[in-house]
Amino acid sequence: MAILTTFLSIIFNLLTLGKKFKRKPVDLSREAERAKNYPPAFPNGWYNLCSSESLGKGQVKEIEAFGQKFAVYRGQSGKVGVMDIYCPHLNANLADGWVKEDKLVCPFHGWEFEKNGKCSHIPYSEQEPPEQAKIKSYTVKENWGLILMWYHEDGEPPSWDTGKYLNELEDYKYHGFTSDILHIHLQDFAENGADYAHFNFVHNLLTIPYASKFVHLKHDVKIQFGKGEESHLAWFTDTAQLAWNKSGEIIDKAGGSAVVSYFGPGFLAFKLNSKLAKDVIVLKTFTPIAPLKLRMDDYIFAPKKTNRFALKYILMESSSQFHDDILIWERKGYNKKPLLVRGDGPIIKMRNWYKQFYTASTKVLLEED
Ligand code: FES
Ligand SMILES: [Fe+2]
Repeated sequence: MAILTTFLSIIFNLLTLGKKFKRKPVDLSREAERAKNYPPAFPNGWYNLCSSESLGKGQVKEIEAFGQKFAVYRGQSGKVGVMDIYCPHLNANLADGWVKEDKLVCPFHGWEFEKNGKCSHIPYSEQEPPEQAKIKSYTVKENWGLILMWYHEDGEPPSWDTGKYLNELEDYKYHGFTSDILHIHLQDFAENGADYAHFNFVHNLLTIPYASKFVHLKHDVKIQFGKGEESHLAWFTDTAQLAWNKSGEIIDKAGGSAVVSYFGPGFLAFKLNSKLAKDVIVLKTFTPIAPLKLRMDDYIFAPKKTNRFALKYILMESSSQFHDDILIWERKGYNKKPLLVRGDGPIIKMRNWYKQFYTASTKVLLEED
């Protein structure tokens, strides 16, 4: 069986090798109008700034997110600091500065800033740094090899913690990441899981050439929402079975399943299972940059014994399904009062769940709509 599985994986791998996903061009001049009906662009939550390994001790990076830029640096002690990018003195770009111990030094006149954004030393002045010599800093932590930042529209502290989730990744092998810029709103990712009707319409084909002449995928989906202390979570299950086109009959043991856990608006984990590979985890993060523009990063983890061809194939299938969504998301609008019929999924329930990630003032606006 193992030999057959490996053989099939090699065939799949060769057939799908180098497959490129084509996107339709986005008319950027119309984006402001398209964004008009969408909810606010930056929901509150934890977001991925960059991978931990991409920021060594003593390094500084410029990261774009939430309609602005941030200076992200790692001090000599290993701790990460995140602050607004323009120095409060004469507005030099702090990401062009350098690290001294655990402080960030401005490249223009050498003011030194602590992790909390306070200036603690001005090298040429006898004057103590004035009270206003402070730059806005942000709550940051590292989990799963990522540098996560808490973003809140009103500057409120984190309402939940990331530390207790996905601990199984410690025993997994990391297989790298992919990154893409998408012209979509974050909330469309969440609505995807609640939009039951699109699954058997958009996601019914395999990537293997000519396979769609004979077989199709049949999805059975369900979403659940966390309550109380877990209200920032939602779980979505998709069981996809392979069926013959002619008879509609299900082909035994040929499908796969995915459990998707949503951790607030900023990231979700796909756990993929099939006969070829088990418990593969794709940690998908979304970092909004501007209205209808975000960075999507996929971090791939698999149990150590996973066959690499099987892994490649399962990732190809899942990312191909995602690209089918992206083609639609990048060109759609947002209807505040969608025309729903029997057979549509719990889209309104999902929208209500999502409201918790907007600020209090935003919530009122949404409810009045
Ligand atoms: S602009 Fe930063 S120290 Fe002067
Ligand atoms: Fe979808």
